[in-house]
Amino acid sequence: MQANEGSGTVRLMVNGVITQVLLDPDRSLLDVLRDELDVTGPKPGCGEGVCGACTVLLDGEPIRSCRTAVAAVDGRGVLTIEGLAPPGELHPVQQAFLEHGAFQCGYCTPGMILSAVALHEATADPGDESIRAALEGNICRCGTYRRILAAVSDGSPDTESVRGVDSVDVPSIDLDRRPRAPWDLTPTNERDWFDVLPDGLVVVVEADRSGGWSTTSGAWLHVGGDGIVTAFTGKVDAGQDNRTGLSVILAEALELPLSHVRLVMGDTDLCPYDMGTFGSRSTPDAGRELRALGRATRDRLEELAKTLDVVGDRIGDMVRGLRRIDVAARPRDRDSAPESAPAPPPDARRLTGPSIVTGSRRYPSDVVRPGMRHGMVLRPPAADATLRSVELDAVADDHVTVVQEGAFIGVVARTPTEARRALARAKSVWDLLETPREADLEAHLRANPIDEEGWEGRFDQATGDVDAALASANVRLEATYTTAFIAHVPMETRAAVAEWNDDERLTIWTGTQVPFGVREEVAGALAIPEAAVRIIVPDFGGGFGGKHAGPVAIEAARLARAAGNPVKVRWTREDEFRHGYSRPAAVIDIEAGATRDGRLTGWRMTNLNAGTFGLEGPYEVPDQRLVYQPADAPLRQGSYRGLAATANHFARESAMDELAVALEIDALELRLAHLEDERLAAVLKAAAGRIESTRERERGTGIGFAGGIEKDAYVATAVELQVDGDRRVRLTRIVTAFDCGRIVNPDALTNQIEGAMSMGLGGALFEAVHFDAGGVLTNASLSDYRVPRITDVPPVEVILLDRPDLPSAGAGETPIIALAPAIANAIFAATSVRLRDMPLIPSGRLPD
Ligand code: FES
Repeated sequence: MQANEGSGTVRLMVNGVITQVLLDPDRSLLDVLRDELDVTGPKPGCGEGVCGACTVLLDGEPIRSCRTAVAAVDGRGVLTIEGLAPPGELHPVQQAFLEHGAFQCGYCTPGMILSAVALHEATADPGDESIRAALEGNICRCGTYRRILAAVSDGSPDTESVRGVDSVDVPSIDLDRRPRAPWDLTPTNERDWFDVLPDGLVVVVEADRSGGWSTTSGAWLHVGGDGIVTAFTGKVDAGQDNRTGLSVILAEALELPLSHVRLVMGDTDLCPYDMGTFGSRSTPDAGRELRALGRATRDRLEELAKTLDVVGDRIGDMVRGLRRIDVAARPRDRDSAPESAPAPPPDARRLTGPSIVTGSRRYPSDVVRPGMRHGMVLRPPAADATLRSVELDAVADDHVTVVQEGAFIGVVARTPTEARRALARAKSVWDLLETPREADLEAHLRANPIDEEGWEGRFDQATGDVDAALASANVRLEATYTTAFIAHVPMETRAAVAEWNDDERLTIWTGTQVPFGVREEVAGALAIPEAAVRIIVPDFGGGFGGKHAGPVAIEAARLARAAGNPVKVRWTREDEFRHGYSRPAAVIDIEAGATRDGRLTGWRMTNLNAGTFGLEGPYEVPDQRLVYQPADAPLRQGSYRGLAATANHFARESAMDELAVALEIDALELRLAHLEDERLAAVLKAAAGRIESTRERERGTGIGFAGGIEKDAYVATAVELQVDGDRRVRLTRIVTAFDCGRIVNPDALTNQIEGAMSMGLGGALFEAVHFDAGGVLTNASLSDYRVPRITDVPPVEVILLDRPDLPSAGAGETPIIALAPAIANAIFAATSVRLRDMPLIPSGRLPD
């Protein structure tokens, strides 16, 4: 193909199709592919070419399209994930990713697959080390590295290309029509069900609080004449694959194949109210509701079959032409788990897989609406800084609209490049808050306790006389443990597309874990009724607790209202660091006392700033006091996978190890001697037993373990590592034993646990948000903020302890809590160095 040099245009071949675009020296190939050609397989991730999400092949070579000027590809061939295999077929690497389930949210997957394809083209049968080296530039924040390694290893191009399966992760019915008002805000008998849904049967199970606290309010579904059951849930899928897990539960309750079930998730006009997808509550709450709904529907269909005299498997025939709404009684056994847990169908993983490996899945940042423009917002150098002055005269031009509403200033343009260029012409001066530097953090938190209301307020619980118990103890431990602020770093940054309709109603597509909360936020910020706002949450690229609020949705809505067009706003990676929020830093003091023969007698634990989750431990100690004291944090902070449980378990499980050393008692024995909880004892024995029962250890090798209970699930993690002569630590093995009651989908569960191990390594070893006075972050980019890469992750073994007789607890968070103390304990075993601050080894080397 010939270049178009000097013509003012660039000619390139994208996935075999020759195309011509305008030459703009500032435009990247990524922007052109996504925003001009609507080729959305390449993803924006970091903007500096270090995360690999935007990887494409340029004449066969993997390149970062975000750092490649479109002018540089004149006359050349670009291959994206969409062009890797003919329609309906998969490249062997895509097939291998699908078979290994080598993804969670899938946002990194197109880039990962293309890097792997390039490796296979360059190297026949690459070994693990070659694969790790080739993929080191591709980040998977969900941490599916073990599976990626296996998939790339199996994805040889010699394998015959195979036909893929159709994606089924979209509703089978057209849901573009909006109801008169959101169904969760409308009484059941007033909902305009069949103005939106096709003919059929609607079954509703009303909310019921008698079973205790729940994030989910009731459930409903539609049975269509095509025999497909479409259920509605306010939960969302950020990569934890609860779309598959909840579908399995529903299909099982309906006694239907998985292929007959669809889920509509996170659409606030159509779904039952849900507080949010957090706290590992999807399976316990939405799963319970969908199970009850499925059973009630099964009963209804059986009754219908009798009256209509049709056999039970012709569901479509039974409901065709009906417009019937049944409010079903909740089956009485709603809280009990079935006596046996049937294995999930073998194709369970594939519900979300095909669209991920082919790049056809549309994430919030991929949504395009007719006439859509791109918005960008003027932001301060630190969150919560205030605007002192701004000059905007040079910003607007024929294609750029400037929007100013009080302190909110943004621009709307035809492309992100135009918007970025325009905003760069604004001159602004900001006043920073007076907040401490990072070096003064511990002293600041100690000196600045604050009052908080509600469940985030001070907690102080005492049993017995802890002062007396500590004073009379034969062996005492006093230690302080700290954890740093860390960032969520979902691979997909916050994004929203807002569209106003003629009737002053608003629709926003965005990635959030709390769609109904964002609906309320948007309505409040724009002073419109909540019922006028529809939030739609496509499956999105990771949250980890970081997408609980709706600022990007509000920004897009404001800009769209002012511009008179649908507007997309996508936060840059720097925005994500500076204007999101972090996991709270923690300062935790522990005082513990024991008798000489190893009985714990006194325990005092005080957590400053992080929170109460995991503060109450599993060990039996007669005299103890547990305190949580909120403090004046210098950075914005909020939810994060595991919340404070990671910090509290790090402190407690490190302290238990320190006590075992001081008492000269085996650390597992000390724990078991103070445990009445048989389930925690079982996971501890399983993990410790597996790692102890292997080969002889070399010099400089240490093992450590830790355990805990969180969100009704039980975890124990054991770690083996080596410390070399240069005092560098290399993890060689992680074993995690996990019990979350009845297992619904073992593959998805294992994937979550493996991912938590990978993600947890970052916070344990090297991740920290660094900041200066005024809350100005000093490492707000992925080249400065290190997250785990494929070369950081050792082999991970997962032991699942199934409890089919017990209700399922969630598994998104708990697995992460025991990793850091297990590593700290293993480092002590190898070196006698006790590390009490997370991250443990920020420089990569142990202190001398
Ligand atoms: Fe890799 Fe989510 S699957 S970032």
